[in-house]
Amino acid sequence: MDAKSPHAQKNDLDRFRLRNYIEDLIDTDQLDIRDERVDLADVAAILQGNDKAVWFRNIGGENVELVGNVVGGRERLARAFGVPSNQLRQELERRLKLKPEFIELTRATAPVQEVVITGDDIDITKLPTHLQHAADGAPYISATIDYTIDPETGLTNVGLRRLMLRGPKETGIDLIAPSDLRAIYLKASAKGERLPVSFALGSHPIDMVAATMRQAGDELDLVASMRAAPLPTVKCVTNDIRVPADAEYVIEGYLDPAGHVEKEGPYGEYLGYYGVVKNNPVFHVTAITHRRDALFQTATISGNRMDLTDTSNLEALRAELNAWMALKSVVREPIAVYTPVSAGGSMCVRFSMRQRFPGEARSALYTILGTVGPKNAFAVDPDIDIFNDKQMEWAFATRFQPDRDLVIATGVRAVPLDPSLLGAPSGSRAGYDLTWPLDHINRWDLAIPTPPTYAGKKFASLEAALKDGPKRFEDLMAASGSRDGREIVRELHLLRGKGLERDEQGRYFLAG
Ligand SMILES: Cc1cc2nc3c(=O)[nH]c(=O)nc-3n(C[C@H](O)[C@H](O)[C@H](O)COP(=O)(O)O)c2cc1C
Repeated sequence: MDAKSPHAQKNDLDRFRLRNYIEDLIDTDQLDIRDERVDLADVAAILQGNDKAVWFRNIGGENVELVGNVVGGRERLARAFGVPSNQLRQELERRLKLKPEFIELTRATAPVQEVVITGDDIDITKLPTHLQHAADGAPYISATIDYTIDPETGLTNVGLRRLMLRGPKETGIDLIAPSDLRAIYLKASAKGERLPVSFALGSHPIDMVAATMRQAGDELDLVASMRAAPLPTVKCVTNDIRVPADAEYVIEGYLDPAGHVEKEGPYGEYLGYYGVVKNNPVFHVTAITHRRDALFQTATISGNRMDLTDTSNLEALRAELNAWMALKSVVREPIAVYTPVSAGGSMCVRFSMRQRFPGEARSALYTILGTVGPKNAFAVDPDIDIFNDKQMEWAFATRFQPDRDLVIATGVRAVPLDPSLLGAPSGSRAGYDLTWPLDHINRWDLAIPTPPTYAGKKFASLEAALKDGPKRFEDLMAASGSRDGREIVRELHLLRGKGLERDEQGRYFLAG
């Protein structure tokens, strides 16, 4: 137990509250506030494709509030971490090294347990959960961060998992993808044991970023390190799991040991298409706890504007960090990594590097393609800004020869939800080497043309300048202090009879 005063604790409890984060957006261009009554049926159409976080202050006339799209933009993620958006990866890397600190609270002091609902009073259909996509199997609670204790290790696992409403006290949960929670669940279910899980809902963006990351060891530590501040936790009411005490809601319960036996889905998935109906486990609710003025949260997942979804923005950060770690292991001078959010977060990786050895870019491409996630990887020299789509298109068009610069890996692990697999169990990946081969990199004609700066040396006459050595036209203008240039053309014309020549770079010189 931390020795902090109740006052200091109170401040800590407000600092990472979702409602506070949203209120801080009020005077920015990042928030769309809906004060009018909005029915749950209309929420999806307002959220999908919206470039702002949306705060619904009157859902269905029930006096409940809902916020969506909270992290559906890199700028909002960057605000959460207090850094410019192109510094996010560096900031995550820094925070990963921080020592986790905790403040343990009791039920009496934990905001998320101000209201406790158990037993017959539990009814998750009273929560403001909306139908997100036309063909979804039911409304989904989508911004849910799961906290589980692995019974074998005692370590807490943290992830993000959506819940499909099935009734007042039960939901479906998608545990098909190879995750740590799936592995922990399969062990428990094989023994016929219930697996307690608690879902925090209405969380600070930092907690959501931490939840998408995977780390050996205790992932509650990861949440605390990512916050770069002591994490207030409280033990759940109906299980022993510790959860962030400053969340808006916690839904406690357990996974049914019966296994993957109930139909879950379809659902609009995070690559922009539907995921089909799957057999999945059932989650039973044993308690709902929340703040008195709790703010419900939903996450945007699907559609054709991946750059505006919560999922893609979260996935992109995780993928960028993974790619950077991999790159550092094979490249002496990596410069930057970016995973375009519009490509679904992790499907595409761009990186820039300064080449020191022949083949270094190619090795880096193979390395990136060997990590989990990316299907296409692009390597460029440092003069290309990988955050700029236009520069990337230009480099792709002008520095890439398909028969020389394309590498393809076949029969490798694929993202199962990639619809281009057409059902195949494994897939292929491509690396695009847009770097110049090292023996061409210093060619003068491959430098990027820029406006002249006339920085050359001054001479008494044009002839004196030419006698000094070969000069570009720009140098000749600088040599004579010309602010025009046309008079230099006339002088050069007269010098043609006196041995004026040009070398292979087009520089002028006087022969002999
Ligand atoms: C909004 C959101 C919803 C997600 N829902 C699911 C899900 O329902 N099932 C799943 O397997 N992964 C889901 N993921 C991905 C996992 O949260 C992610 O892979 C996480 O790292 C898994 O953690 P774990 O391996 O520690 O269990 C979701 C990610 C996001 C951003």
